[in-house]
Formats: sequence, structure tokens, C-alpha cells
Amino acid sequence: MTTITLHPDFRVGPVDRRVFGSFVEHLGRCVYTGIYEPGHPTADEHGFRRDVADLTKELGATVLRYPGGNFVSNYVWEDGVGPVEDRKPFLDLAWRTVEPNLVGTDEFLQYCEREGIEPMMAVNLGTRGVAEAVALLEYCNGEAGTKWADMRIANGREKPYGVKLWCLGNEMDGPWQIGHKDAHEYGKLAAEAGKAMRLTDPSIELVACGSSSMTMDTFGEWERTVLSYTYDIVDHISMHAYYEELDGDRASFLGSGTAMSRFIERVAASADAIGAERRSDKRITISFDEWNVWYLKSRFVGEKNLPIQRDAPRIIEDVYSALDAVVVGDLINTLLSHADRVAIGCLAQLVNVIAPIMTEPGGESWKQTTFHPFATAARLARGESLQVKVATDAIATAAHGDVPAVTAAATVDPETGALALFVTNRTGEEQTVTLRTPGAAATIAGGAAVLADTIGPREGKQAAEAYGMVDALPVEHADGAVTLRLAPESWTAFRGTLR
Ligand code: AHR
Repeated sequence: MTTITLHPDFRVGPVDRRVFGSFVEHLGRCVYTGIYEPGHPTADEHGFRRDVADLTKELGATVLRYPGGNFVSNYVWEDGVGPVEDRKPFLDLAWRTVEPNLVGTDEFLQYCEREGIEPMMAVNLGTRGVAEAVALLEYCNGEAGTKWADMRIANGREKPYGVKLWCLGNEMDGPWQIGHKDAHEYGKLAAEAGKAMRLTDPSIELVACGSSSMTMDTFGEWERTVLSYTYDIVDHISMHAYYEELDGDRASFLGSGTAMSRFIERVAASADAIGAERRSDKRITISFDEWNVWYLKSRFVGEKNLPIQRDAPRIIEDVYSALDAVVVGDLINTLLSHADRVAIGCLAQLVNVIAPIMTEPGGESWKQTTFHPFATAARLARGESLQVKVATDAIATAAHGDVPAVTAAATVDPETGALALFVTNRTGEEQTVTLRTPGAAATIAGGAAVLADTIGPREGKQAAEAYGMVDALPVEHADGAVTLRLAPESWTAFRGTLR
């Protein structure tokens, strides 16, 4: 028996809509034959696929991070601007792929502008440094009359793009990263690049690289050292985490949201410790700018030592199961319940590469299972995230110890009283939940769920196309009490009111 208790006045904080971001990297087929494919039947005059843009709208992605990822750490952004016919292909060492430079900064930023999505740019702090980062920022945001802004204007774009979100490199703690650095080297460089970027455009928000995962040996010490150099300069610290079912351990996989929660709380504690030492009132927030289910350990192995690839190779095109969709829903619960700390989130990635949207070159596009919980939450989560008290059983897992059997997150729009309640049942049995709202009144109008038992791993396009949200189990209202039922291994989004 589970009880969920909430009240409209007990809030975590406003939901930053940027938590529903995604990620476009020059990796595999995310850009080429993903968002961009001139000659495709749906391509617009700029060569971008309309079918993919429409699915991105339906997904509800609010932010797109670009151009990487590991790719950014050896990217020369100047090679990707100016007349396309003058651009030279370049060998990207992160993915050992020839980058044709047909899509670069201008094409991407204009795409975001047309689609009404906020861009989040990353600068190369792997093979490059302060000068190149500042030049790119000036190219994007500078007014006429200085070298790089004038280059943008000469390339046909008069008005500055006004890009607000900037990542100071990518996963610089990772030995796989081109130009990998230790925490002191990176901290100093990020502080100097950030300082110069702020002098170029004081209106920007800066993200320092945190750890690439909580399992890195340097985790904790990395955050402490990097923030000791950058605390006064950056706004956010990044987090990256990918989860997968390993050795058939379903319980641990379903408990991934608890691991994500602990990761967020540890990074927040590291940041606050630096703030406390400095007696600073500033609060560093989190840019969770890569998260998803990714069969990284179990399936990626064979793709690591690739020969040099050309023409948008198929790299890490994971096919998701129904269980993966439930876990994605649960990870969203975790992000929403930390709304006071997590300012930005990016589901990595948007198209083809560990993605909710898939395409065939010259052909169709379709939704993977993971599309559905993301799109549903992005549509419904509005206003304030609420403190949700869940009294439930504990499940023992091999990877995370005890985790709650049921997790929940809730948002309420203070103007309208519209309530969204997202609940995961991590058990194999149906669960009954009593919803308690002492001092307030709740109604639940209905809900929709993703279920884990309908598609197995790697069943492919046809199974994915048949998959979708199903009606939630019937809700009971009696004598002012609300009783919810949760299908086994499911994530349900309930809609209602709370006043
Ligand atoms: O999203 C795929 C890769 O995962 C990114 O390039 C990198 O930042 C991370 O390791």
C-alpha cells in the first residue's frame, strides 16, 4: 500500500522549461540524415527535414545542445561557417568520422530560430582555448563593428543570435576526450575562458563540466576542484548519466531514478560546500545536459574502435524496449523533483543516436518508445514542482541498495490549479495508491501510462510504431479521497486539479 501526500503550497520551485531539452551532436546520423537531409521529400528550402522538425515539436524539446558531445573537443567552428562550397571536410577524431561541414553554426542557430527552440552551444576546450571560445561567442552574439561579428554579417546574418547558454567544453574529466585535462588544468582554463566570454557578453549563462558519470574515479574531487576555480564565474555545473539494464537485473534498472537522485544530491552538496567556504550567497545550479537510457556497456563495445567512417554512419542507434520507456519516465520524475537544483536537462540525443526519433535516409521517421513519456511530461509539467511525500515499500536492488517501490513527481499551475502527477510503479504487481492532499482538494480527471511488458529489447520499427501511451487504470474518488491504481512496471501521468 502506497500513500502520496501533497499540498499546493509545499513547493520545490518553479519548473524551468529548459529541463525538457535535447541534444544534437555531429555524431553518426543525428545531423546528416537526421535533422538535415537536402533532397528528402520533406526537406525545406534549407535542407532540414520537416518530418523530423514536426516530431521534435511534438516531443516538446525546449533546448538543443550543440555541436557535441565528444565531437566539440576537436571541432574547428570556423571550418563550418561561410559559403558551403568553400568549406573543407574535416576528420573528427571523437567518432573517427569525416565531417563534411555542410551544417555549422549558422545553419544550426537559424534552424533553432525557425523552430522556436533555444540553442545551447558548447565551446572546444579540448584542442582549443580562450581565444577561439571568445571568437565563437562574438561571432554568434556580437554587434557589427568587430572582426568576428562582421564575419557573421559577411556570411549573411546581420542580427546577432543572442545565444544565452554556453557549455565550457564537454566531459573534460574523461580520458577518452580529445584534449582531456585534469581538474586543475580544466578548472583554470574554464575560469579564464568563462571570464573572457562574460567580458564579451555579460548576459550569457555558463556551464562548467562536471563529471561524465558518478562512477568516474575522480567524481567528487573533480567537482570540488573545478568549482574552486570557477564558482564565481559559472552559473551551472554539468551532469551526465546513462542507464542500462545489465545482466538481466531488471530491479536495478528500474531503480535508476534513485541513482540519478543521489547523483544530483551529491553534486549539489559539492557545490554548496564550496559556496559555504566562501560564505557566498550564490547557488550553483545543475545542467543535466546528457541523460538517457544507453546500452553503453553491453552493446557499445563493438562500436568503439571504428575504422574511419564517411557519409553519416549508423553509430549507437539503440532500439528501445517498453521497459526503457518506463525508466525514462522515472528519470523525468527525478529531474522534476529536483526543480530547485536542475535548471537544464538534455535528453541525449534527439535523432537516430540513442534517440526518441528515428529516420531512414530518404524515407520515414518514427517515434521510439522513449518518445512518449518525454512528450507527455513536457506537455503537462507546468508551473511549480511540488514536494511529494511518498510512503511506499522498499525494493532491494543489487546496484543501488534499497529503492522506493513507487516514485512520484507533481507540478501545479498556481493560476489555474492544473495538476500533473507522474507516478512510477517499479514492481511487477499492480499497486494501489491513496492520494492525500490535507488542507486542499484534488481531483484526477484521467491519465495515460507507458507499460514495460509490451515490447522486448531491439524489436525495431514496427513494434515501436505500435507502441504508445495507454489509458491509466480507473481512478476512484470517494468521500474526498482519491485512489489511484498503477499497472505493473509502469509510468503514469495523471491530470487533474489541486487547490
Ligand atoms: O551522447 C553520446 C556521447 O556520450 C557524447 O558525445 C559524450 O559527451 C558522452 O560520453
